[in-house]
Amino acid sequence: MVIVFFGPPGSGKGTQSQELGKTIKDLIHVSTGDLLRQEIASASELGHRLKSKIEAGEFVTDDIIVQLVSGILRKNVKKDIIFDGFPRTLQQAIAFDTLLGVENLKVDVVFDFDIDVHVVIERVTGRYMCLGCGAVYHKKNKKPKVDSVCDQCGGIRFVERKDDSVDVLETRLKIYQEETLPVKKYYGDKGVLKRIDASLSPDEVTCFIKTALLEAGLIRRGE
Ligand code: AP5
Repeated sequence: MVIVFFGPPGSGKGTQSQELGKTIKDLIHVSTGDLLRQEIASASELGHRLKSKIEAGEFVTDDIIVQLVSGILRKNVKKDIIFDGFPRTLQQAIAFDTLLGVENLKVDVVFDFDIDVHVVIERVTGRYMCLGCGAVYHKKNKKPKVDSVCDQCGGIRFVERKDDSVDVLETRLKIYQEETLPVKKYYGDKGVLKRIDASLSPDEVTCFIKTALLEAGLIRRGE
C-alpha cells in the first residue's frame, strides 16, 4: 500500500504518520523533511548545502528529493509506506509515478489535509520535538503526559525547528500555494484524492484515516 499525506506545513501529516505507525504493523514512514534534517545532522557535504535552504523555508531541488525517495523505495518495495510531504511539486509527482511503475506499484490514496492558515500558524509556532526520538509535541495542544519527559523514549531534551518562525512560515506557505497545490489537481484527476478536515483533534483525524483505509480494503479490521 502506498499512501501520500498531502497538506501545508503544520497540518498534522507527521503527527498522523506517527499515530498510524503505532497500529499498522511494519508501516514505513518516509518524511522527506525528516530525511533532509538527518542529512544536515550528519554534517555531510550535501547536508551543509541544504541547511540554509531549509532554514529559509525554500524547497530542495527535485532531483535531490527524487534520488532520496528512489533509494528508500527500492529497499522497501514490498512494504506499506506513507510518504509524508512528498511529492510536493508536479515534477516530483510525475517522477514518483515512474519510480512506482518500475516496481509495479501505484499511489493508492492521497490524504489531503485541509486546514485554515490561521490554525497552521498557531500549530507551527507552538511545535517542539524530542531530540532523542523526534516525537512531535505542541506547547498547548499536545504536551507529554509527564511534564518535560517524552512519552515515547523518556528523553528530556527537546528542540524547536529553525524554520518554524512566523517569517519563514510565510515563505513556506507561499511556496506551498505556488508549487505544491498543483499536485492536488494531479491526484484529483487520478481519482485517488481524499479530503480530511485536518482541524479536527488528532484522534478524530486518525479515526477518519483508518476508516477510509478500511473501507478501501487497504487495511484489515483490528489494525
Ligand atoms: P517538512 O518537515 O516536511 O515540513 P512541512 O511539510 O512544512 O510540514 P511540517 O513538518 O511543518 O508539518 P506537519 O504537517 O508534519 O505537522 P505536524 O504533525 O508536525 O519539510 C521541511 C522542509 O524540508 C521544507 O520546507 C523544504 O525546505 C524541505 N522539503 C521537504 N520535503 C520536500 C520536498 N518533497 N521537496 C522539496 N523540499 C522539501 O503538526 C504540527 C504541530 O501541530 C505539532 O506541534 C503537533 O503536535 C500539532 N498538531 C498536529 N495535529 C494536530 C491536531 N489535529 N490538532 C491540534 N494540534 C495538532
